[in-house]
Amino acid sequence: MKYNPLTKEIIDELVEIVGRKNVISDKEKIETYSHDETSADQYAHMPEVVVRPKTTKEIAKIVKLANKELIPITPRGAGSGLSGGAIPVFGGIVISTEKMNRVLDIDYNNMMMVLQPGVVTNDINEEIAEHGLFFAGYPMSVETCYIGGNVAENAGGGKAVKYGVTGRYVMGLEVVIPTGEVLELGGKRVKDVTGYDLKQLIVGSEGTLGIVTKIIIKLLPLPAVKEDLLVLFTDVKSAINIVPEIMTGARIIPTSIEFMDKLSVKTSCEYLNEHLPYQQAGAMLLIEVDGNTEEQVEADAEIIGELCLDKGAIEVYVADNYTTQERVWSVRRNIAEAFKVVSPHQSLEDIVVPIAAIPDLMPELERISDKYNIQIPCYGHAGDGNLHATLVKNPESSMQEWYEIEKKALREIYQATKELGGTISGEHGIGLKRKPYMKIVTSPVELELMRKIKKAFDPNNIMNPGKIFDL
Ligand code: LAC
Ligand code: ZN
Repeated sequence: MKYNPLTKEIIDELVEIVGRKNVISDKEKIETYSHDETSADQYAHMPEVVVRPKTTKEIAKIVKLANKELIPITPRGAGSGLSGGAIPVFGGIVISTEKMNRVLDIDYNNMMMVLQPGVVTNDINEEIAEHGLFFAGYPMSVETCYIGGNVAENAGGGKAVKYGVTGRYVMGLEVVIPTGEVLELGGKRVKDVTGYDLKQLIVGSEGTLGIVTKIIIKLLPLPAVKEDLLVLFTDVKSAINIVPEIMTGARIIPTSIEFMDKLSVKTSCEYLNEHLPYQQAGAMLLIEVDGNTEEQVEADAEIIGELCLDKGAIEVYVADNYTTQERVWSVRRNIAEAFKVVSPHQSLEDIVVPIAAIPDLMPELERISDKYNIQIPCYGHAGDGNLHATLVKNPESSMQEWYEIEKKALREIYQATKELGGTISGEHGIGLKRKPYMKIVTSPVELELMRKIKKAFDPNNIMNPGKIFDL
């Protein structure tokens, strides 16, 4: 696909649409829009211009212009993505939603909220907590990410065991499709079988089918009580083996079952200057239960705690107040960032297998780690079968060697994951980073159908081109 470069005339038209101060082309200022949270050295690419529209109408005009002039567009939220989805690989225009950050409506009677895509996800819950409501479909980067990015990636996170992922809460969307038309999909209806579910097709389409400009999300009653258990195990195997049993044995679906191996806890603790008792533990589970009465929540926590001790846990710590819970969760939330700081050359993975297959996945990771002589620390949403195995460059390897090893080791990890009934991304997406590996987990027929869908929405391939698969 050959795109046209941005001319002075086109820039003038963009200025006409969004105003001069919302068109940025100064090299220094647009540098931050050249990457997301995936390794910058490996994937970054500069846009030609960044625009910051404030309305759907402005976005529709920009998209129409780009479609006519054959200029690639890359939609961008907070840039906290982990698969290169917001990287403008062909240059062109980055449309940042940073100025579309208003809560448009809180509809208490329907328990729904209408949002612009640039609302910081954490602000949603801050806004509604006092009304006894909460939004459950948020990811670990909740403090920085935008809801629009969460929708584009169908973000997961730490509560998916019980509450599911972002898509479950998306009731309606307004989307500017690549031809510049504005679509209204879904609405405040609990049920809807009116033709194909295009709304859910947009969810998780990684900005390749359009730009989401308005989102209706479903809210839940905020559980009154929650309790966290930090469960220590001597080794990874005993921690992981117990995960499926927590649900089948205790017959309780906790809010979260997060897994952290020793190196992950240690790295995050050192980064935060926090102290969790990881020295004697090879791995930990962080298990949360919530509900409406203290009796129920305590009883659930006790059953799970006892099951863990029965199955070989060495210690169960209880966090039942906000401060302690925040301390523990902060360590978990900051692992990715901590690894990035300590080992900038790494590959943060997002593999997912059926929950019962999680014990079989760990030996495969160990085998691959030994074979390539690299560390593969691991943490993640064990209760969803979703693990962030992180391949870390061996300091002794050259960059050339590391890139070779990364490619081979990834391929083997993905293959092993597939054989266990899993896939290559549970919540971070394919984007740029995993595009070369799509064929491992998608059949030619499925890929061809995806290409046809893409072409139906985007005949000129201007909307976030170069992501998920090539045309
Ligand atoms: C997490 C991010 C990396 O779970 O998805 O911490
Ligand atoms: Zn995660």
